[in-house]
Amino acid sequence: MRILYVLLLIIIVSCKKNQELPVVKTEKKPVIGVIEKNAMVVSAREEASKIGRDILKKGGNAFDAMVATEMALAVAYPYAGNLGGGGFMVYRKADGQVGAIDYREKAPLAAFKDMYLDENGDPISEKSQLGAMAVGVPGTIAGIFEVHKKFGTLSIEELLTPVVALAEDGYVITEMQEKRLHHFKELFLETNKDTILYAGTIKAKDTLKNVMLGKTLRRIIENGKDEFYKGETGRKLVDYLQSKGGIITMEDLGKYEAKWRNPIQFSYKDLNIISMSPPSSGGVCLAQIMKMIEPYDLKSYGHNTLKSIQVITEAERRAYADRSFYLGDPDFVKIPIDTLISDSYLADRMNNFDPNKATLSTDLSYGTIPGYESSETTHYSIVDQFGNAISVTTTLNGAYGSKLYVPELGFFLNNEMDDFSAKPGTPNMFGLLGAEANAIAPEKRMLSSMTPTLVEKEGKLWMSVGTPGGSTIITSVLQTILNVKEFGMSMQDAVNAPRFHHQWLPDVVIFEPNSFDKKVIDSLKAKGYKTNEEETRVIGKVDGILVLPNGSLEGGADRRGDDTAVGF
Ligand code: GLY
Repeated sequence: MRILYVLLLIIIVSCKKNQELPVVKTEKKPVIGVIEKNAMVVSAREEASKIGRDILKKGGNAFDAMVATEMALAVAYPYAGNLGGGGFMVYRKADGQVGAIDYREKAPLAAFKDMYLDENGDPISEKSQLGAMAVGVPGTIAGIFEVHKKFGTLSIEELLTPVVALAEDGYVITEMQEKRLHHFKELFLETNKDTILYAGTIKAKDTLKNVMLGKTLRRIIENGKDEFYKGETGRKLVDYLQSKGGIITMEDLGKYEAKWRNPIQFSYKDLNIISMSPPSSGGVCLAQIMKMIEPYDLKSYGHNTLKSIQVITEAERRAYADRSFYLGDPDFVKIPIDTLISDSYLADRMNNFDPNKATLSTDLSYGTIPGYESSETTHYSIVDQFGNAISVTTTLNGAYGSKLYVPELGFFLNNEMDDFSAKPGTPNMFGLLGAEANAIAPEKRMLSSMTPTLVEKEGKLWMSVGTPGGSTIITSVLQTILNVKEFGMSMQDAVNAPRFHHQWLPDVVIFEPNSFDKKVIDSLKAKGYKTNEEETRVIGKVDGILVLPNGSLEGGADRRGDDTAVGF
């Protein structure tokens, strides 16, 4: 009897302990993502994840898989995967060494501060968003070659041959792709003044081949990075751009270089977070928000409750206000990063937070630092069988970038120039405001929100995470980390969970439609928050990998896209 009683007690106590872990208030059973023992690739397309996984299986490392996955996305996910854009990668090697590479686009030499303003000094947003004038000097090919030079173990030919096959044999169009291509068809025709491969009648389940892209990739295998920046591909690219009124020259291409950067590192409770440094605002803003919310007990407040949403929103508001003033290309502007992410500065920023009412963004500006002079992108995460991890976000900026497609080369070009602040104080396509720090200048890199992030726990790799989503990237990465850390979710549930977003200006909290408790939204309104649930733009499309306590890997591939996790 006594033994039975003790057993019962143990069961009750352990149940209670387990109950404390997942505090997600949901009737649904937790959804666990794909679990694999050795290695994992999670990306926006199954074909790309599989090509990355096959490289790992062949003995390649995460960096080899990055080169192949990045190019496979350019083939099968032209919406954001690219040769004509740029991106950022954060890495953590098996020995704990961390780093980052910036292959962000930059302004052409002929660019100038007011290049997108009309005679009245007002921004012509179409000029920075559509067609040849919107294009920044692409960085992706320089990025993958630089990664390969430093860390690659297989040859470029071994890495890119499966990608050439994908382009030449074709890939199967998904329902989501059919819808998107249909949606953008008119804009493709208008921008290119001609039909293009992607403006044809393309239906789900069709196999789409991109023979010209296959040829471009074959030349890159043969001639290396210079093919794109100094060779035939570069010349075709420049000729085409100039025939469409663009200003990028061979000199611009020849001068482009990817840059190794020190990532932003900060702690949140027992986590060490490693994220992208400027010219992305991702790491700095993520650090600011997480440090501002750290003193609040989100776990006890609960997931997506009034108290949690309020604290996170107020921290986001303050971080985005700082973003708009202080952040830009670090090679051009001095950024007080240490102060911006310091405990004392951030505690001070939250001093005027009043739980009873919303802070108005009009009453809040960037913080004072004494002595200071002053929807599209794609993400993939890879963890290899050796323990190396990478987190990569790459972009054309808008969906299919500038919509300008180079038929002879088989790819779209970015409209990243819109990420500059065309006129300080006037919002860009994500509604983000910028100041002098992000004004246009020749060869300057435009400020980004991309937030490829790795997280360590107890000195070991714990998570690789990131997302597309323009200005919502930072807040989506934030919520995904919190969903696992504070609310005990699986990786899959964490990426699937409904998200909200605030970015200082416009002063409105946007919520994924039909996903939040109406009572919570009403209570926020009663406290003075402006809310928007009608917004149809997706708030992030997160992909991540979580290292489970037994060392296995759980992939989280966002339900909002065709994203897929594969491993072995
Ligand atoms: N083009 C989106 C970003 O870099 O934030």
